[in-house]
Amino acid sequence: MLLRDNGLRFSPITVALHWVVALSLLAIFGLQLMIGQASSDAARMQFAHLQNLVGLILFLVSVYRFWARITSYHPLPVGTPNPIEVIISRSVAVALALAMVLLPIAVWASRAAGGEAVVLPGGFSIPTLLPIHAGLKHVVDVLFDIGASAFLAGLALHVFGAVKNHFLLKNNTLKRMLGKHVEL
Ligand code: HEM
Repeated sequence: MLLRDNGLRFSPITVALHWVVALSLLAIFGLQLMIGQASSDAARMQFAHLQNLVGLILFLVSVYRFWARITSYHPLPVGTPNPIEVIISRSVAVALALAMVLLPIAVWASRAAGGEAVVLPGGFSIPTLLPIHAGLKHVVDVLFDIGASAFLAGLALHVFGAVKNHFLLKNNTLKRMLGKHVEL
């Protein structure tokens, strides 16, 4: 099995983890809706703990993924896109991968500075380590809001690019990220 991406193709690990991250993100948003609509505090807490666990998995997967992205070749683009578009789309992809490392750290840091632990199902919790400090929490929250907004804008551009390649340019870019073998 190909363990690392090379100039010709994504490794199956990259493909699998790409969709693990996308689904984890979707689960986090879905759980946020369920937390808002929960009928009792107990249910709300259970959803919140599950959301924390998904966030932790997303973080750990993303640490590997970001390292793998910056230390291996990005396969050549499918078709003959404009070089500027290739540079932008790759930069956005790397920024998205980095955001999935930094944003969970910011959530943890904000809660720790607010005196709140990140609790996981089963009563486990991630050590807070930081001092309780309202000023620090405020700074982290502002940085999180900026980072999350930039992330959502980048993600919208990324998904737009995938949809454009698939439906408008009708090439195999999306299918390749779904595991199809594409000859370049
Ligand atoms: C519906 C959601 C998504 C779609 C349709 C999608 C689509 C794609 C496609 C088609 C590629 C291949 C681009 C190429 O050939 O160079 C790709 C790569 C990539 N995408 Fe996504 N993506 C989605 C969500 C995400 C999310 C949520 C993230 C990160 C937070 C992400 C990060 C990346 C990265 C880093 C790459 C480069 C390959 C890698 O290292 O995994 N994508 N995506």
